[in-house]
Amino acid sequence: MKTLVLNTLGNDYTEQIKALIKDKEIEIVDTSGMKIAHCMGCNQCWLKMPGICAIKDDYEEIIKKLVETENLWIVSDTRFGFLDYKGKRLMDRIMPMMNMTIVLRDGRMRHEERYHPLNIGLLYKGDADQAIMEDWCKRTAAKIGGHSLGAIALGINAKQSVGEREAMPVITGRAKHVFIINGSPRVAKFSNTDKIIHSFVKGLEEAGSTWELHNLSSRKEWETAREAFLTNKHILIAFPLYVECMPSMMLEFLETLPSERKQPALLSFLLHGGMEEGNEFRFCERILQELPAQFGCSYGGTLIHGGSFGIRTREDAVKAKIVAPYEKMGRLFAQNGNFLIPEAKKFTGPEQYPWLVRKMVSLLFLKKVNKGFEDFAKSWGCTRPLDDKPYN
Ligand SMILES: Cc1cc2nc3c(=O)[nH]c(=O)nc-3n(C[C@H](O)[C@H](O)[C@H](O)COP(=O)(O)O)c2cc1C
Repeated sequence: MKTLVLNTLGNDYTEQIKALIKDKEIEIVDTSGMKIAHCMGCNQCWLKMPGICAIKDDYEEIIKKLVETENLWIVSDTRFGFLDYKGKRLMDRIMPMMNMTIVLRDGRMRHEERYHPLNIGLLYKGDADQAIMEDWCKRTAAKIGGHSLGAIALGINAKQSVGEREAMPVITGRAKHVFIINGSPRVAKFSNTDKIIHSFVKGLEEAGSTWELHNLSSRKEWETAREAFLTNKHILIAFPLYVECMPSMMLEFLETLPSERKQPALLSFLLHGGMEEGNEFRFCERILQELPAQFGCSYGGTLIHGGSFGIRTREDAVKAKIVAPYEKMGRLFAQNGNFLIPEAKKFTGPEQYPWLVRKMVSLLFLKKVNKGFEDFAKSWGCTRPLDDKPYN
């Protein structure tokens, strides 16, 4: 099979899909009634049972089909100028198609493909911006070693760009109390975001601010998090980058929030991820810039930093050293109430390492890094090679 279409919108769209994608070998799978959970970032598909997802649901059949697929199309509705959580969830779960092992591909550090490259296309519904959707396809396909098949709008779009919404009044001054959401699907104990937040809040406390934290990994906390979202003035969502944007679980939570609020608020973000360079995070940052207005909040900026893979697995002293810089940013956030400050911009580090540096890193360190992954896998009881191909 060459082309697989994962349709989250149901059978009403089958004819439109067939009219738009004319490939001869095509299978359209209606995922709207399928049982598909969010990726929870457990890493078992990389380090414990390479290539096999630990979640036993209907996505296992999809992975088996992907092994035979060259072109993957996602058919999805959009929210917040991006895929809705049902569409994004299909991409977050694609991790078993990659290996943990990192290689230098097209001049960038990438995870190695487990089977073969995948080309990515998108048929989308709703008022998302065409150029943004195209960009996501390009960036995501490059991650999986393939190329973009393009983004095509389905039916008539509302055409209102999210950037055209009315600007909200900006709240100025210090943040006396900060309401924090950890948007990682990983349980707090294992979440790198959690370790980052706990360094950040030390800084808040030093500057005399108070804080409260809610974890989206625990659905029991969603209701109180929703209420706190509506009543707090300084809101901070900290989360890991998942396939170029927010984890699908966080998108689902955001989709349950009311768009109206009684008093103004400043919504800021702390975004981190495994890769080191700043440009890894720019697509997501663009989506975040428009997000606060959709909830009646103003944008308080995004603090971005890479290199967070495996913080939780490090020895305490190393872990403390990695997250220490966030303490200072917590202090500054308390004093300024936002990340719209030059220090936050600088915090990201290099946008892109020079070509020579990347080449040197790949020659000198990648072997060591990848050997580290193998050792880690052994410590988890993994008995298969990391590039195992269980569905071949
Ligand atoms: C499904 C998935 C997708 C990811 N996508 C990216 C990515 O596109 N870029 C990146 O730098 N890191 C990516 N990561 C790595 C996470 O951002 C990183 O491991 C982070 O530290 C996890 O934080 P947490 O432990 O709080 O979930 C991804 C991880 C997962 C599980």
